Amino acid sequence: MNIMKKQDFFFFALVFQPQCTHNGSMHSEDLRTVLVTGGAGFIGSNLVRLLVKEKGIRVINLDKLTYAGNLESLADLDGDPNHLFVQADLCDGEQMRSIFREHQPDAVMHLAAESHVDRSIDGPGEFIQTNVVGTFQLLQAALEYYRGLEGARKNAFRFHHISTDEVFGTLQMGDPAFTETTPYDPHSPYSASKASSDHLARAWMDTYGLPVLVTNCSNNYGPYQFPEKLIPVVILKCLRGDVIPVYGKGENIRDWLYVVDHAEALHCVLTRGSPGETYNIGGNNERQNIELVQSLCGILDELRPGATPYAENISFVTDRPGHDLRYAIDASKIKRELGWEPKETFASGFRKTVQWYLDNEAWWQRIVSGDYQLTRLGQESNAG
Ligand code: NAD
Ligand code: DAU
Repeated sequence: MNIMKKQDFFFFALVFQPQCTHNGSMHSEDLRTVLVTGGAGFIGSNLVRLLVKEKGIRVINLDKLTYAGNLESLADLDGDPNHLFVQADLCDGEQMRSIFREHQPDAVMHLAAESHVDRSIDGPGEFIQTNVVGTFQLLQAALEYYRGLEGARKNAFRFHHISTDEVFGTLQMGDPAFTETTPYDPHSPYSASKASSDHLARAWMDTYGLPVLVTNCSNNYGPYQFPEKLIPVVILKCLRGDVIPVYGKGENIRDWLYVVDHAEALHCVLTRGSPGETYNIGGNNERQNIELVQSLCGILDELRPGATPYAENISFVTDRPGHDLRYAIDASKIKRELGWEPKETFASGFRKTVQWYLDNEAWWQRIVSGDYQLTRLGQESNAG
């Protein structure tokens, strides 16, 4: 069995791979077709757009189209021969194998997941199915395909598993930020399922030699985020004149990264990262929730003034069960080794995002006039 060891990959990376710049103009010649899972979701759609439009890569976009998947987020790629959409469920192992056989990808970027903490509290079953069982099925199909590759194509193949900072658990104020070696300590069904999938991905490298890269990223914001997450919830509640729900006392802290910066980081890791390695990705933008919500209200006061300041509608509501106090990412490794750092600042990224929701009302109106109507999730313990 041909199993390349981590140290061999590291030597290969040191000797043969040029320095990654943030603009990432030097993508590998070997990277022509990438299988992206979850490409109709928030981060996935932003990543697919970047790969197809900016990096000249052909994307096979594999997505089940759950409530969170939306092909309208990729309407600007309609008719583009470099974007091929395949509706499929990760958990269907036979379909995963046939997608590899048919499309012969040079790499996999695995984003498909159930991703909302509040939904994982209400119904953890889907999280175990998709995030754990689905990742297992995808890894098995990727391994079978990888074993059939030869020569340069085999050496260049990568399985990039996209994960979250939530697997590291929670920090107290003043604790140092999460590094790549921080022990796992997940608290929600969502983060526990993502932690499981991270362990599976690494085990498939260590045991079977599948060349796996793992990234753990902080909170993303930007265009096309489903309006169940904090940023779009706040913007849409403001625009509808509703109460703006802030969980607990609003003192929880998250690190915020503009989604296109994340997509650039993922491309950088895929083309320059060393298999067997983990890279933390973050925005260097820690904010208390209440401070962030007030900033968003302030931006909207300027861009779409209401009768009274939007912040007057902020309401502190019952906390999320198991609510992690603080996440913070030490992203020095990806900067030092691959040369990536975020372009957007807190001010520029949030202003762009608010403006995007103002300019794209048709996109979010179709969502909030369907099954989901901005209702509070994650309060009950109806697991099972
Ligand atoms: P999202 O919920 O917006 O999109 C998830 C996509 O996966 C959807 O298009 C959905 O249809 C698809 N999907 C779900 N189950 C599937 C299945 N069984 N088979 C095939 N497709 C399926 O999620 P997101 O916010 O874009 O997150 C993408 C990935 O990035 C996730 O793995 C998440 O854990 C990770 N992540 C997210 C953030 C964040 O802030 N949003 C931060 C760090 C990491
Ligand atoms: O840290 C990365 C993670 O960020 C990703 O792995 C997840 O997929 C993504 O959903 C996100 O998780 P969070 O739970 O941090 O995101 P959310 O937007 O749900 O909540 C952000 C913070 O805002 C959190 O402290 C809870 C709080 N909150 C959230 C909502 C929806 C509120 O105060 N009010 C709300 O209405």
